[in-house]
This record gives sequence, structure tokens and C-alpha cells, in this order.
Amino acid sequence: MKVSILGHGVVGKGVWEMLQANSGYTVRTVLVKKGEKTEDFMTESFDDVLVDDSELVIECMGGIDPAFEFTSKCLEAGKSLITSNKALVAAHGIDLMNIANRKGVSFIFSAACGGAIPILQNLLRARKTDSIIWAGGILNGTTNFILDSMDCKGTSFDDALAEAKRLGYAEANPTADISGMDTMRKVMLISMVAYDILPNFDYNIEGIESVSAADFEVARSLGCTIRLVGKCGLSDSGRLYAYVEPVVCSMAEAYYSIHSNTNLAQYTGKNAGLMSFMGQGAGRYPTASAILRDVTSVAEGQKQMLSPKCLVGFACNSSKECEHKYFVRTDAESMKALSSKIETEKVVCEKDGLVFAITKAVTVKDMHDAAAEVRRKGANIFFAAAKEA
Ligand SMILES: NC(=O)c1ccc[n+]([C@@H]2O[C@H](COP(=O)([O-])OP(=O)(O)OC[C@H]3O[C@@H](n4cnc5c(N)ncnc54)[C@H](OP(=O)(O)O)[C@@H]3O)[C@@H](O)[C@H]2O)c1
Repeated sequence: MKVSILGHGVVGKGVWEMLQANSGYTVRTVLVKKGEKTEDFMTESFDDVLVDDSELVIECMGGIDPAFEFTSKCLEAGKSLITSNKALVAAHGIDLMNIANRKGVSFIFSAACGGAIPILQNLLRARKTDSIIWAGGILNGTTNFILDSMDCKGTSFDDALAEAKRLGYAEANPTADISGMDTMRKVMLISMVAYDILPNFDYNIEGIESVSAADFEVARSLGCTIRLVGKCGLSDSGRLYAYVEPVVCSMAEAYYSIHSNTNLAQYTGKNAGLMSFMGQGAGRYPTASAILRDVTSVAEGQKQMLSPKCLVGFACNSSKECEHKYFVRTDAESMKALSSKIETEKVVCEKDGLVFAITKAVTVKDMHDAAAEVRRKGANIFFAAAKEA
């Protein structure tokens, strides 16, 4: 199979190397940025990729512009497409699927969620014969690395983030990681594959910007640690829910044992029960290995990961499937105001003017809305789902 690659960065280089090592594939053209062409097979002009004789293009540039323009042109030219770009698939996956279907070519993106972890392709298979009750997990290695370092090594948030950057886990601009947006994009891909619904922007995302050493200290006193988790599922009424938020988890929960930059992707099938996939969610060779699996899938004739039925839908985070207790830390005055909306089950401790409490069960929507209200008034708040604390 003749293949071209868009982008020659962390992932693109890994894909190029792995294709060289696998017979049966010939790399025709690799698109690089201006001034970066060092080999004959490289080009600085996208038009060279469009007119070459590759049957498959692998997009590893990242971002939406010009990735969307380039990938749609490749599909229009009758080339199959593989991408590891979750931002592109979350924003334009349905558009790309429609072009691919019209042209009768493949559009596969399993490396865009979970790196080497084969969550999307397994969901795709599982949903054919089982109902997926929920899916998600720890889907961002950078945030898990930061949270794990803060808990296990006592590192400050800033030092842990700097270390994540030094080790190549975090992007130069880590906003999407720590805000939870990167996790949400992966949840969006999971939801499209598992439920044919792309959650729209009316969902609840809480990242890890507010977490402090004191939160870990109190969580530890409860036998717990803190992780960032993204989830989607179907409520009893058949409506989709989707959200991202920190979780205070005890040793009994699988999240507790996920250390460093490791990811844990899970789903529960009505018949299969809980399925867990643990591994490297990012990195050159883990991600390239997922792309090579996708190349094999295209060679074997897989056309799509999305259904033409896939539509944009509103996430409904006020369903009973979205109810749980929360661990909350804020100042005494804000806690008093919060308690008028969300009942406190117990105050865990009070120190340095801060109150640490566990709420009664409340919906994700109500908790996220209440925290937003506290912040609108200029106060700090940290909250995390607390199922067993
Ligand atoms: N890194 C991971 O572990 C990982 C894991 C899973 C998914 N992904 C996804 O994979 C994609 C690539 O990530 P990456 O880490 O490989 O990023 P990266 O190291 O920044 O590589 C992207 C490469 O594409 C180049 N590029 C961007 N726009 C271009 C254009 N218009 N023409 C030619 N070249 C262009 C960049 O050049 P400049 O640097 O000069 O801009 C860079 O060399 C992203 O969508 C990312 O979300 C990455």
C-alpha cells in the first residue's frame, strides 16, 4: 500500500519509522513545514501529496486549520484517511465521514483516543452485539502524571507540570490538558463511536487547575487519591450524558492504581460487564503503533468508525445516572452559600479558613453549576466526585 504522511513531528516521525520497518507499505510523500525539507521523500507543498499516487494519507499535523482543509481534500481526491487528531475529529469527524462515504474510501481515527489503547475499535465491535452502558476513564496522561506526582511525591502543581513538559508528556501549551478539554474531546470520540451521538458544547468539564496539596492531604486522610476522569453513557431515558471531572477514589477503585502518565479506558457492556484497557495513552511509538493498527484495518477493508446516523446531541447531565456525592473544598462563607443548594453529608475537616466536606448525592449538572456560581463571586473551590469517600 502506498502511503503519504502529513506532519513530521512526534507522531509523524514514529509512523514513518514504523512504516519503513513493515514490508508491504511504501511511503510516497511526507509533508513538512517550510524550511524543514531534508530528504527527497519530503515536501513543503501540500499539493504534492494531493497529486501523488498514495492510496492512504495519515494526518499527524494536529490542530484544525489547515488539517481539516487538507484531510477533506485528500478524501475528495479518493485517498483513504487515518488521523490521530482528536481536535479535528471532535470538530469535523461527521463532515469527514460524509466525504469518505461519498467517495467510498476509509476514514479511521482510533489513535485519536487513548494512544496505544484499543478502546475505540473495541467499542465499535462490542456495540454490534451488546449495549454500552457507559464508557470513559482516565484519558489524559499529562493530568494523571501531575496528580500522581502531587500525591506520591509531594510535588507542587507547577513543578509537576514542568516535569511533564520536560519528559515530553505535556504540550508547550498544556491548557487543553489541564482544563479537561483534551479529555472531553476523547469522550466526544467515544460517544460518537459507542452511541452515534456527538455531545455538543452544553456539557460539564472540570479540569485540575484548582487542585492543591491540601486537597491531596485531606483525600489521603480518607484513604483516597485524586484522578481526572471523563465519562459518557446513556441514561434510563436513553439520553446521553457526558462530562469530565476530578474523582476522589479509594484503593478499591481501579483509578487509584493508575500511576504516572498511564491511561485507563473502560466501558461497561450490558452483557460483557466492566472491560478495562490500561496502557500508554500518548507518546511517539505508542501512538504510531495505534496508527499502524489502523493502517492494517484499512488494508483489510475497514471503511468507517462512524455511522451515517451519527448526529450532534445535547448532553443531559441532570439524569440519575449522573448523581453522586462530591468532595468539596472552599472557604467557610462559600461553603455556607453552597450548602443552601447542595446538602452537606459531613464536614471532613476545617483548616486555614478552608472547609473540606462531602456532599450528599447531587447531579453532575447541579454540582458544576454551583461551583461556577462560587467562582463567579470570586472565591476558589475544588470539587471531585466522591463515590466511596
Ligand atoms: N504526541 C502524542 O503523544 C499524541 C498522542 C495521540 C494523539 N496525538 C495527536 O497527533 C497529532 C500530532 O501530534 P504530535 O505530538 O506529533 O505534534 P507535533 O510534534 O507538534 O507534530 C506536528 C508536526 O506537524 C507539523 N505541521 C503542522 N502544521 C503543518 C502544515 N501546515 N504543514 C506541514 N507541517 C505541519 C508541525 O510543524 P511545526 O512544529 O513546525 O509547527 C510538526 O512538525 C495531534 O493531533 C495530536 O493531538 C499526539
